[in-house]
Amino acid sequence: MSIKPTLAEEFDQLAEEYTDKIRRWVPHYDHLVRHAASIHVEASSPKILDVGAGNGNVSMTILERCSPHSITLLDASEDMLRLASARLSPSVEVFNVKSFFQEARFESCQFDFICCSLALHHLVVDDKRSFLMRAHDWLRPSGQITIADLIIDKQDSDHYRLLEEWEAYAKMKGTTEDEWKHVMEHYEAYDRPDNLSTHWQILQDLGYVKLRVLFKQSKWMVLSAKKPS
Ligand SMILES: C[S@@+](CC[C@H](N)C(=O)[O-])C[C@H]1O[C@@H](n2cnc3c(N)ncnc32)[C@H](O)[C@@H]1O
Repeated sequence: MSIKPTLAEEFDQLAEEYTDKIRRWVPHYDHLVRHAASIHVEASSPKILDVGAGNGNVSMTILERCSPHSITLLDASEDMLRLASARLSPSVEVFNVKSFFQEARFESCQFDFICCSLALHHLVVDDKRSFLMRAHDWLRPSGQITIADLIIDKQDSDHYRLLEEWEAYAKMKGTTEDEWKHVMEHYEAYDRPDNLSTHWQILQDLGYVKLRVLFKQSKWMVLSAKKPS
C-alpha cells in the first residue's frame, strides 16, 4: 500500500478494516478513544461534534455512556463518514459534514461536547489555533472539548526517541515492514503534531478553562478543556 496524494483519498483507502490497522499502528489507541469520549457536561441529552470522526469509534464509545440528542460527524473522507454513520444511525440522529476542518463552519453555541481524536495533528499550528477558536464559538457555555493525539513537535529533542518507541510498539502488535513504511510516509506527508505547551498556550489564550490532561503515555495524550459558563 502506498500513500495517496490527498488526505481525503489517503483516509478513504485506510477506511477498510480501519480499527484493526489503527490498533496496531497507534500506541494506546483504545485508551485514547476511551478518554476522548470522557464526556462531562450538564446537558442530559447533549449535542456532540465528532471532529475527524473516522469510522466512528469515539462516537460509539460515547453512546455507551450517554444518550446524545445528535452527533455531527465532521470528516473529509467520504468512506469514513459512510462507515461511521452506518454504525451510529440506528441509535442516534447523525449529521454528516464532509469538509476539511479548516473550512468547517457551524452556528455559535451549537454543541455541548466536541471530541477531536487523532484529528488535530493533521493541522499546522496556525490552523490548530484557528480551529480551536471556532470550536470555542460552537460550544455552549460550560461545553467541553477533548483532544486525543500525539503531542510532540517534530523538532523536539525527544522526537527521535518517540519514533523508536512507536516503531517498537507497532512491530510488537504485528505491524509489518510494509505497513510501517506506509505509517512513516503518512506521518511525513500529513501529520503536524505540536508540543503540550503549544496546545496549552492556545487553549488558554482562546479562553478555555479547566484544562486537564486525562491520559498520558509517553507523547500520546488526551486533553480536556471547557468553555466558561
Ligand atoms: C486518524 S483518523 C481518526 C479517526 C477517529 N477520530 C479515531 O480516533 O479513530 C483521522 C480522521 O480525520 C480526518 N481528517 C484528518 N485531517 C482532516 C482535515 N484537515 N479535515 C477533515 N478531515 C480530516 C481523516 O479523514 C480521518 O477520518
